[in-house]
Amino acid sequence: MESKQITPEQEVLGVLGGKINRDPFAVFEDLRNNGSVRPIPMPMGDPDHQTWIVSHMEQAKQVLKDQATFCVDPATIEKSSDTKKSLINSSEEVSSNLFLSNSLNALDEPDHRRLRQLVSRAFTPKYMESLRPSVQKIADDLLDQVQDKGEMDIVVDYAYKLPINVISIMIGVPESQREKIYHWSEAIANGLGVGRVDEDVAKSLEAFGEYFKQLIDEKRRHPSDDLISELIAIEEEGDKLTENELLSMVQLLIFAGHETTSNLISTGTLMLLDHPEQLNLLKDDPGLVPNAVEELLRYHGPSTTAGPRYARKDTELGGQQIKKGDILFPLLKSANRDENVFSDSEDLDVTRDLKRHLAFGQGVHMCLGAPLARIEGDLAFTTLLRRMPHIKLNIPREEVQWQFKLAAQGLSSLPVSF
Ligand code: HEM
Repeated sequence: MESKQITPEQEVLGVLGGKINRDPFAVFEDLRNNGSVRPIPMPMGDPDHQTWIVSHMEQAKQVLKDQATFCVDPATIEKSSDTKKSLINSSEEVSSNLFLSNSLNALDEPDHRRLRQLVSRAFTPKYMESLRPSVQKIADDLLDQVQDKGEMDIVVDYAYKLPINVISIMIGVPESQREKIYHWSEAIANGLGVGRVDEDVAKSLEAFGEYFKQLIDEKRRHPSDDLISELIAIEEEGDKLTENELLSMVQLLIFAGHETTSNLISTGTLMLLDHPEQLNLLKDDPGLVPNAVEELLRYHGPSTTAGPRYARKDTELGGQQIKKGDILFPLLKSANRDENVFSDSEDLDVTRDLKRHLAFGQGVHMCLGAPLARIEGDLAFTTLLRRMPHIKLNIPREEVQWQFKLAAQGLSSLPVSF
């Protein structure tokens, strides 16, 4: 078959939509060198509003930080309330989309500030640090289960299970119920990642919502030592989370904290296997692991892009005229390879004296769970390398497959022996 030349814009669209199965970095480099703010054609996009990709660090930061010019909820811009729907490239509408509407990540000021302040009272760095022993135990238990086999799938046996267990402990999901949370969230993320809401996804969304409604009721009646009970108890100047806010928050924590962290662990492991000299540095000096986690987040972080932003007014960015209501995607993975910010940006260097990367976003929506993700990354890699120092890939490198869920690029499988 004749191979058709595709443009960088189409390639980025393919990467974002999960239709192109390769590393996007060559395309990102081209974007940075040849016009960092570019329009991309959205096949089922809103004809009245252009979609843009933003690939340089400075401009991506500007979009994330300048709230007077860019927002996350298009409904707050007059006459553009339909913009958001058109972004989801789907034949069926995501009517029961629980976590893109009215949850923290989808709110602008002042609603965002109010909700984030309330939630931050429970979700403190000190609280997250207190989860360290539980994270360590989960990592050890997972590796105990495969230790005698001499081989494992990093994605299935370790990276995917560690974060969902951590979040479950955090929000108080009993161990016996975690398997179903795991399956629902997998079905939802798989479907929505490519904009598909089939029967399976719709059923999972409903079951997922119903389960957490019941869990919240249960915690109201019998509070215990977990985040849901803490969130229920929070009251600030007479303000507290409504039932819906609580439900959205719990669901957001699962989606925001699961896929991302598991991609950090699995993609990070692959990157270290690809760079044995870097892997050896960590084996020789495990004290370097926290720095390596930052570098792995920069080098091949979980989120290709931040959530869409919408221009509140006509503005100029990177020499382009952006119109009110236009949609912008700050490409985090590209910004993190920006050669103006990071020297030898295409090299993985776990000893790098790292300036601030963009893997957790920036501005008011910057990742709430970043301290926890860092603890999970630190313990996941430290424990893996301590217990399985001879780890190696079990399949030819070219057979490693990428998959896409919720704008995140991760691996579907990573078989290793040790
Ligand atoms: C927001 C990345 C882990 C909870 C974000 C954003 C990014 C991000 C880029 C901002 C998106 C935007 O501005 O559009 C990551 C990465 C993680 C990770 C790379 C792991 C390596 C977690 C964990 C949790 C979490 C473990 C919680 C358990 C959240 C929440 C938000 C958020 C609640 C929304 C914050 C807001 O809108 O105010 N994350 N995240 N994340 N993340 Fe994370």
